[in-house]
Amino acid sequence: MKDKFYLTTPIYYPSDKLHIGHAYCTVATDTIARYHRLKGEEVMFLTGTDEHGQKIEDKAKEAGVTPKQFVDDIVEGPRGVLDLWKLMNISNDRFIRTTDDYHEHSVQKIFKQLYDQGDIYKGKYVGKYCKPCESFWTESQLKDGKCPDCGREVQDAEEEAYFFRLSKYADRIQHLLEDTDFLQPRSRVHEMVNNFIKPGLEDLCVSRTSFTWGVPVDFDPGHVVYVWIDALSNYITALGYGNDKYHDYEKFWPADVHIVGKEIVRFHAIIWPAILMALDLPLPKRVFGHGWLLLDGGKMSKSKGNVVDPYLLSERYGVDALRFFLMRTFPFGSDGNFSNEALINTINVDLANDLGNLVSRTTAMVQKYFGGTLPAGCGKWAEPTQPDRELLELSAALRGKYAEAMDAYAPHKALEEVFKAIQRANKYIDENTPWTLAKDLEANGPRLAHVMYNLLECARICGVLLTPFMPGSMEKLFAQIGADAGVQTWESAGTWGLLPETAAVTKGENLFPRIDMEKELKELENLEKKPEEVKAPEAPKAEAKPAPAAPDYINIDDFSKVKFVTAKVLACEAVPKSSKLLRFTLDCGEGFPRQILSGIHEWYEPEELVGKTVVACTNLKPRKMMGIMSNGMLISAVKEEPDGTEKLHLVMLDDKVPAGYGLC
Ligand code: ME8
Repeated sequence: MKDKFYLTTPIYYPSDKLHIGHAYCTVATDTIARYHRLKGEEVMFLTGTDEHGQKIEDKAKEAGVTPKQFVDDIVEGPRGVLDLWKLMNISNDRFIRTTDDYHEHSVQKIFKQLYDQGDIYKGKYVGKYCKPCESFWTESQLKDGKCPDCGREVQDAEEEAYFFRLSKYADRIQHLLEDTDFLQPRSRVHEMVNNFIKPGLEDLCVSRTSFTWGVPVDFDPGHVVYVWIDALSNYITALGYGNDKYHDYEKFWPADVHIVGKEIVRFHAIIWPAILMALDLPLPKRVFGHGWLLLDGGKMSKSKGNVVDPYLLSERYGVDALRFFLMRTFPFGSDGNFSNEALINTINVDLANDLGNLVSRTTAMVQKYFGGTLPAGCGKWAEPTQPDRELLELSAALRGKYAEAMDAYAPHKALEEVFKAIQRANKYIDENTPWTLAKDLEANGPRLAHVMYNLLECARICGVLLTPFMPGSMEKLFAQIGADAGVQTWESAGTWGLLPETAAVTKGENLFPRIDMEKELKELENLEKKPEEVKAPEAPKAEAKPAPAAPDYINIDDFSKVKFVTAKVLACEAVPKSSKLLRFTLDCGEGFPRQILSGIHEWYEPEELVGKTVVACTNLKPRKMMGIMSNGMLISAVKEEPDGTEKLHLVMLDDKVPAGYGLC
């Protein structure tokens, strides 16, 4: 029997068209779903839309339509949610809308059961309400008097309401979070326990009377089920729990993973398990809270006017390039800063230069030197050279490393491994200089054929592993290198030498054409709706440093040996097992991302640095720390405290300064 894997995205609010942040979450989940299918598992991938609530009722009123008409247009209308997922090649097996009849009936049953058994009771809600987030807050939960999730104004609220006895489950939830691997990344556990459980879990308001656009509480007209019981239940109603529409509950529940954005981890890691405990149902095996895609250091949101349209980008660069960019550039558990430059850069460096060049150079040479078919026997070579061995070993070990990263929900690391092999293969071309071998085909033909075979085989293995990320483009790659379905499988990716030696190779179209960065950026600027000025977060103020008392002068030539450049932080994450090191992915204006490690974790969290403009020294000799290469150093201001300890402030510049400027 096949292994089963059930995974979900959050269900999206169709209050506006979806933006690139929503696409990020869905593409990641789709990639993971495709990975499990590739491994031969039976996958159930669920996504959908969360269509009730006051915000949608208000928006529909503004638009002069009924709430159902309003959501129908955003979900099913032209360039709506369904169109977008189709365009982006999202392979969900099921799509749930919370306005679907079967879901509404199931929610009513769940609500009634919880009420009958005493887990839901009637009371009075007095507190604060954030309308855009549709969240109730107690006074103590507010941050500076504002909504702790979005920072906006809250209103006084008092109404008769039903409550779910969340407090009853506090101990079990705390144990679940602290003593199991339920919530990942692990860094989110601390936040949940300290911010929500330790201060005391309060019972949760689960019905409203101030609006009507929701699932009616069937035993108490006037109340509608308030968003979270309605929304969270989708994960089981879509399998047929409480309804006859589907019959997969026994087969797929509990879910293997709910992938969610970090701001809704609380609902999935505290409220959802408590509801399931009350219903006496098994808990999902994992909740993974990914980071946000930021724009200019701030969260994308329609109300800030700074959203990026995934339609536009998919149509312009191709769906696979966009999918790849999202997964390659940002460590999945951390925040990352979106920019058009970073997108084009990734397309040019990884896809056009590394992968595209490997495939086009190799197929062109096989065609030119061998008419598209290598001779039988070319897969073997009696005395492999060092580069032969390195390429083969790296490719043969790749699947294992890739799987480890994918299983840890680190798609960016899986891609890192694949690209190490691709880069090794490009180097292998330069080491073997096939064009020189081709000058004397009679003498060197067999060696040249072997070199070509090794390149095709490496491209095949990488192609299989890249399929979950870029399904359409990998089909084209397989067609060009002559790999048929039998050697596109997961099993075949773990074994070197399975591509038939005489496979028919054809040089097809360029998989990923290079983009002219400067021209493209100008065109994009004209195309995109000008985003409102987004205020960049303030950089911490650097402490003034006293001038040294007796300077040891250096001359200008000494000084100019050190290369300082401005660098944008594309991504930042903690180095595992190190309390000090942060790993930065930087745009230093070089046309490729630069990796630098810096020992400043004591003073900064990775999330707060993404999008910042810092100063890097780029001609310091690269060195490894904790087994990871650091290609330079970030510059900090240092203050010595009276007790002899040091305090570091990263030197940060005005975010308007572009990446790659030299400092003088
Ligand atoms: O939260 N970067 O819906 P939603 C990354 N209906 N992820 C982002 C993002 C960004 N800039 N912006 C949004 C809801 N997301 C609820 C879910 S589930 C039972 C109910 C992610 O449309 C966000 O983090 O506001 C969330 O995971 C998802 O998009 C849906 O957000």
